[in-house]
Amino acid sequence: MLTAGGDAPGMNAAIRAVVRAAHAGGIEVVGVRRGFEGLIDASFELLPSRAVANIVQHGGTILETSRSKRFRTLSGRKRAADNLLAHGVESLVTIGGDGTLAAACAFQANRRVNVVFVPATIDNDVPGTDYSIGFDTAVNTALGAIDRIRDTAFASERLFFVEVMGRDSGFIATAVAIGGGAEAVIVPEAPLAIEELCRRIMESHQRGKRSSIIVVSEGPRTGGAMAIAGKVAARTGMEARVTVLGHFQRGGAPTARDRVAASRMGAAAVEALARRRPPTLIGEERGEVVCLPLEEAAQRRRRLDPSLVELVYRLSV
Ligand code: F6P
Repeated sequence: MLTAGGDAPGMNAAIRAVVRAAHAGGIEVVGVRRGFEGLIDASFELLPSRAVANIVQHGGTILETSRSKRFRTLSGRKRAADNLLAHGVESLVTIGGDGTLAAACAFQANRRVNVVFVPATIDNDVPGTDYSIGFDTAVNTALGAIDRIRDTAFASERLFFVEVMGRDSGFIATAVAIGGGAEAVIVPEAPLAIEELCRRIMESHQRGKRSSIIVVSEGPRTGGAMAIAGKVAARTGMEARVTVLGHFQRGGAPTARDRVAASRMGAAAVEALARRRPPTLIGEERGEVVCLPLEEAAQRRRRLDPSLVELVYRLSV
């Protein structure tokens, strides 16, 4: 088992579930350190049941993680498969986001090791599943920050731009904007022209608002909060302040939602391996844990529901 890509709160709960469910079924688990890098370097250790005691409540990943360039090469993947087979390992549980899913697909193509994938990324953008472990915790962490910013925003006549993570997707931003009662949200999937954003802000202030919170999804496709705030301040003449939440959103104790999702998906991953299912993605659909063929899941597209963006504006009049 390995964790790869950006860590997400709840990865430890998933690791614990895999180890405990496997031991209950008489299966030994080997942990790989530092994701796919550790697979290439044979950085392996046996994980007895006690190795995962007292981790369910912690963020991060005890197995550590990396973004491996070497694993993108055929020779890197061949070396990884050789290492696993030399250590008598037949199956691999991969826990991570869409980059990890792509790596898992490339790895299973050699048909030497059976691969199961468990989605865990705060971005919640993995295809084939409605939910990825870590999203709920990240959203709640960002909401805690927004609530505090709102206290100070309410006391002054200013615009507050809050930048959240999400890479190329606006799932975090829309959830945070709705839950935090923001006046506007800027996401890569539904870009809003600066003129239109300014018009909406000015209108809401004419209706009596004294301050506004605008949630901005990070990344080149939105331009980021700093650049947008500068343009809006120049056009409206209003004072603007920017908070970039950054990696603050990725740490901290996982919420109950993430611990339960991680525990269910981790146990389902072991079941899928024990039943010798083909390469599988463990996902969540309408609240149920489901298994999908890995390749099929990877080809699906996960789209942000545009009505959520619209809801932000409808509720901020
Ligand atoms: O994919 C998770 C994520 O936190 C993204 O939201 C963010 O863009 C990226 O990872 C940051 O990656 P790194 O920690 O490598 O800077």
